[in-house]
Amino acid sequence: MHSFEYHHGELYCEQVPVSRIAKELGTPCYIYSHETLIRHFHAYDSAFKNIPHVIAFAMKANSNLAILRLMAKEGSGADIVSGGELFRALKAGVPASKIVFAGVGKSPDEIRDALKADVLMFNVESSAEIHAINEVAASVGKKARIALRINPDVDPKTHPYISTGMKKSKFGIASDRALEEYKMASSLDHIDVVGVHAHIGSQLTDVTPFVDSLKKVVALIHTLKSQGITIRYLNIGGGLGITYSEEKPPLPQDLADAISPLVKDLGLTLVMEPGRVIVGNAGILVTKALYEKAGETKHFVIVDAAMNDLIRPSLYGAYHEIRPVNEEAIHRTRQTVDIVGPVCESGDFLAKDRSLPGTKPGELLAVMSAGAYGFVMASNYNSRPRVPEVLVKGGEFHVIRERETYDDLVRGERIPSFLNETE
Ligand code: LLP
Repeated sequence: MHSFEYHHGELYCEQVPVSRIAKELGTPCYIYSHETLIRHFHAYDSAFKNIPHVIAFAMKANSNLAILRLMAKEGSGADIVSGGELFRALKAGVPASKIVFAGVGKSPDEIRDALKADVLMFNVESSAEIHAINEVAASVGKKARIALRINPDVDPKTHPYISTGMKKSKFGIASDRALEEYKMASSLDHIDVVGVHAHIGSQLTDVTPFVDSLKKVVALIHTLKSQGITIRYLNIGGGLGITYSEEKPPLPQDLADAISPLVKDLGLTLVMEPGRVIVGNAGILVTKALYEKAGETKHFVIVDAAMNDLIRPSLYGAYHEIRPVNEEAIHRTRQTVDIVGPVCESGDFLAKDRSLPGTKPGELLAVMSAGAYGFVMASNYNSRPRVPEVLVKGGEFHVIRERETYDDLVRGERIPSFLNETE
């Protein structure tokens, strides 16, 4: 469910015509719907209302300060994966008591900053990292709360690049080594073992892998208890998929119904890290068609957005629906086209072999479901300034990130003096 619908012959975000935003700010630009974000957050939150829980929005999906502030105001925490994300989360007003810190390669500085901020816990991914956290905690005179991230060896049946809970993955600690690592961690002076974490992948369209993973984790929790290690938090990660095309992913309520029987009597607080399901369908990327080009075997529509603005199609072969902003265009004769950007790479496309109504130069297209892993993965490749982000609320829109300038492109670059010397 989202708030991008046609009214009066054109695409709107809530009560604002997309064309109005494009006219004022230019294209490309990202547009997010406030109402959709709120609805998605509460769908997740209320699905789990019968179990004590913390929702830590996976801010890697969208880390704009305004989006984080909005989430925090609704009661969300944050799942972070770097010192930069910690900085953003705190700046946006996310309470440290709802921040969980994941990732296989936390540096000592990042660990120190998170300890000083007093985050809820670290999700720890290796034995070496447990020792590193213990050392840093000792140096700042603190005890670090940790959960071990378990790799349950479950196939999430998603794209291999976003599948994280199988034996061959770099993530987590193998289930059969978990007990040993928990015992070791519990023996350290500056570690407080409080949780178990498992995140098996992203864009999951079935609840079965969640349930399979959870069964293994619950068995581990019982084993730990029998060994005198009591767990207070069970973190089930994120990963619930969304509809990009024809997928019919489970709703948050379906996930809650499937896992509640396994967790409700454990007396634990659930931690959840949804990202895509909250923000994915709450955002679009608006682009303008520049040229049409009939190649030898293909027809191209060249647009002003490129792989540097939205890399998902190039990187994962991901499908994003493309809609004309002008509703009348829907009724035009369809053509099979590639929608490509101006970047100098053959892999620069937003859609391939897509049957779309004819698009004329100057017309606007909306790349749907671009709110998650869209702007956050944007780069300046080909020295293209990153595009603005806009938040629509009812009949108003707010620029929540300005378009970068050419000066922004070179900020921080220096020409050393020897290059200025004249012969
Ligand atoms: N928790 C952890 C530990 C994660 O690594 C991730 C995502 C999440 C939560 C949130 O997962 P979500 O609910 O958003 O599925 N760039 C890729 C997705 C990478 C996901 C990385 N980890 C894409 O565009 O599909």
